[in-house]
Amino acid sequence: MKHGAIARMQHFSMEVSNTDKSIEFYRKILGFKLTERHKAFEVPAIPVELTFMRLGDAHHELVLVHNPKKKYRKRPSRPEDDLDGPPSFHHFALECDTRDDWLKVVSIINENSIEVVRGPVVHSGYVSSGDGSWGENEAIYILDPDGHRVEIFWALAKIGIDGTHINIKGEKVPGTKTEEL
Ligand SMILES: [Fe+2]
Repeated sequence: MKHGAIARMQHFSMEVSNTDKSIEFYRKILGFKLTERHKAFEVPAIPVELTFMRLGDAHHELVLVHNPKKKYRKRPSRPEDDLDGPPSFHHFALECDTRDDWLKVVSIINENSIEVVRGPVVHSGYVSSGDGSWGENEAIYILDPDGHRVEIFWALAKIGIDGTHINIKGEKVPGTKTEEL
């Protein structure tokens, strides 16, 4: 079944326990800009603090939500260790256009002693440096101030017309297939 009515995925929104800390993290470590920040009940129907942040020129790509009435528990650093609780998100990912840009982010992460929970890693079963996983990209996973896992990557494979995956060099990755075209 072809749907096709939705153009793309656009923003991501999550709760944070301390808006100031999170704004600082997303600005300093990941290069987001603050678009606007609003208190709870500025609009009567919105009982939470909303902070809109962006990387490009869209009004927001990341929305931080803080409920001043909520007591926030600490998350385990690995989502896999959260064995009792409601379903939560696992990670969200930010893309760099070039390896130099990606390495710049890795440097910023290291210079600021940000907790790395995985990587740097090459997700590939094709190149010799790969970890055997999927998508033909290079990634690092870090934790934000609340323990939300954020992936930063570059070089994600594209899907060719016949479903073969195509890496950043334009090579068809042997043995790859795609469930739906
Ligand atoms: Fe990912």
